[in-house]
Amino acid sequence: MDGNGRWAQARNLKRADGHRAGAEAIRPVIERLGEYGVGVLTLFGFSTENWGRPRHEVEAILRLGGEFIDRYLDDFDRHGVQLRHLGELDALPRGLRARVRRAVERTRRNDRMIVNFAFNYGGRADIVAAVRRLIAEGTTPEEITEEAIASRLATGDLPEPDLLIRTGGERRLSNFLLWQSAYAEYYFTETFWPDFNLACVDEALAEFSKRQRRFGLVPGEAADGEGPHRGAGDGEPA
Ligand code: IPE
Ligand code: MG
Repeated sequence: MDGNGRWAQARNLKRADGHRAGAEAIRPVIERLGEYGVGVLTLFGFSTENWGRPRHEVEAILRLGGEFIDRYLDDFDRHGVQLRHLGELDALPRGLRARVRRAVERTRRNDRMIVNFAFNYGGRADIVAAVRRLIAEGTTPEEITEEAIASRLATGDLPEPDLLIRTGGERRLSNFLLWQSAYAEYYFTETFWPDFNLACVDEALAEFSKRQRRFGLVPGEAADGEGPHRGAGDGEPA
């Protein structure tokens, strides 16, 4: 959810005001995606790198996280939204940690839509944690497969993202769902996150629906082989 700071700057407001406006933008987007039948949404709210921002900004973002839960938890719960958290919870302030835990616990049986809040999340850290889990489980080298790693990521039980929306004009992944986004369709928009409204959601989904997804295959042609050749030395690259 990028562009909060520039949104504020353009209005002579403080960056924290931009983050507040960004938080306001979230709920309508979730509702719209729910109407489309989107089953899983992951919002990148705070990265492991964002700790390096000025302290007052970090504090403002963390505070907004807690306020957001206080304000919307009932609402999300009523609408069947299951809230989850991706990232390292332990490093967050105690009050926020408790709120996140409460929100996750309270909504865990909801099944209309899963909304992951990536907060203190990093894609590389996610992969490292998955590998550590495998090692702790005593996994042998042969047992380390793509599936074994994928299932131990923070999103282990969820499908891979189909569409990745990046607001605020940046054209990079910034350590978001690195592994999981291998075959995601990327959608870039100049729109700053606080301005990302329902029409923007519609536009992103319309664009997505025009994409032809091949997953490295030739469309319309059945596979002759038995699947990917990994290091066999006789396969053409995908
Ligand atoms: C994204 O907005 C929000 C967070 C990273 C928390 P930015 O704060 O990155 O906004 P810009 O990029 O400075 O406009
Ligand atoms: Mg930014």
